Amino acid sequence: MRETTRAVHAGENPFSPGRVGDVVSPIHVSSTFARRVIHKPTGGYEYSRSANPTRDAYEKALAELEGAKYALGYSSGLAAGANILLALLGKGDHVVASDDLYGGTRRLFLKTFGKFGLDFSFVDAREPANVESAIRENTKIVWLESPTNPTLKLCDIREISGIAHKGGAIAVVDNTFASPYFQNPLSLEADIVLHSATKYIGGHSNVINGAVMVSDEGLHEKLRFQQNAVGAVPSPFDAHTIHVQLKTLGLRMERHAQNAQDVAEFLEAHPKVKRVYYPGLKSHPQHELAKTQMRGFGGMVSFEIRGGMEAAARFLKSLEIFLLAESLGGVESLAEHPASMTHASVSREDRMRAGLSDGLVRLSVGIEDSGDLISDLDNSLK
Ligand SMILES: Cc1ncc(COP(=O)(O)O)c(C=O)c1O
Repeated sequence: MRETTRAVHAGENPFSPGRVGDVVSPIHVSSTFARRVIHKPTGGYEYSRSANPTRDAYEKALAELEGAKYALGYSSGLAAGANILLALLGKGDHVVASDDLYGGTRRLFLKTFGKFGLDFSFVDAREPANVESAIRENTKIVWLESPTNPTLKLCDIREISGIAHKGGAIAVVDNTFASPYFQNPLSLEADIVLHSATKYIGGHSNVINGAVMVSDEGLHEKLRFQQNAVGAVPSPFDAHTIHVQLKTLGLRMERHAQNAQDVAEFLEAHPKVKRVYYPGLKSHPQHELAKTQMRGFGGMVSFEIRGGMEAAARFLKSLEIFLLAESLGGVESLAEHPASMTHASVSREDRMRAGLSDGLVRLSVGIEDSGDLISDLDNSLK
């Protein structure tokens, strides 16, 4: 099955045990499950933190979307990330990460896990040799985002996964920006995929959720243990909501990407715009890599406005269709200022190093009419 068909049917089986032919997975709200005898759960379930039929159906769908054997659902993307670190790292271990991560991931690494004797190095992962030279004997994870948030840098997932394996580490890829529709890191030799399912997988700005996909049995066991031990799991309502919404992933992603391409080309030709970051533009330095490891270029566009912080603030205030808000991946277009919003927790020095200037604006291009979106941008730039 192709991606669009898979998204519609993933995780659904109207005739599986417990279902009565319902074409969408029902919501099982019970926190606990009765059994007839002490030794064995009668219906296969014990307690909903450990496993729940609605979450199971959702997790099956997530696995199918990424072409993975297994998937695990979490109460947020950061909870999913924390679970990976908890499952795979111990005292004294080291992680090599790309230097342009989502600000909250960097905060999770340095401010939360940094307290427990774990060590993190950040490198420009556009150049695989930088990752290679940062790997040490105690490196357990190479953590990548591609494209990155917010400057849409790419890294060669296949080559860097090979480097990680050679150094005795595993490769984790945050695939939130591309979505499983446009990129599948497991097929590029990565070991674990992470999503903030709050974004494109959910797609409607109405649920906070996270997902981890994995095919290796041993890694899955470790992750599953921590998912239950820590308990940052989604409610059955959230699992059901996202499961229904991910059925339109293909339709939404095609429209996001077409609109983003139109918007990026418009911005690139505008005199008040200094620079546009979008992997679908020929001017993107890694456009060729994008064509080989992605099936489409996604819905995120960043650009640098002439006039720095002040111009960015005036531009963002003038928008009428684009809403000034954090987050991304929903059907409605959003705009934000990374330096003072999503990446405010990153130090100015680190921001500058990663190319996050004060004039940088990030757009999550929605599924509206692209002519309306371009008029809105044009009016605000004026
Ligand atoms: C690339 C990326 N990864 C992870 C996260 C964290 O996800 P959540 O907000 O669902 O915890 C985000 C949130 O913006 C993100 O953009």
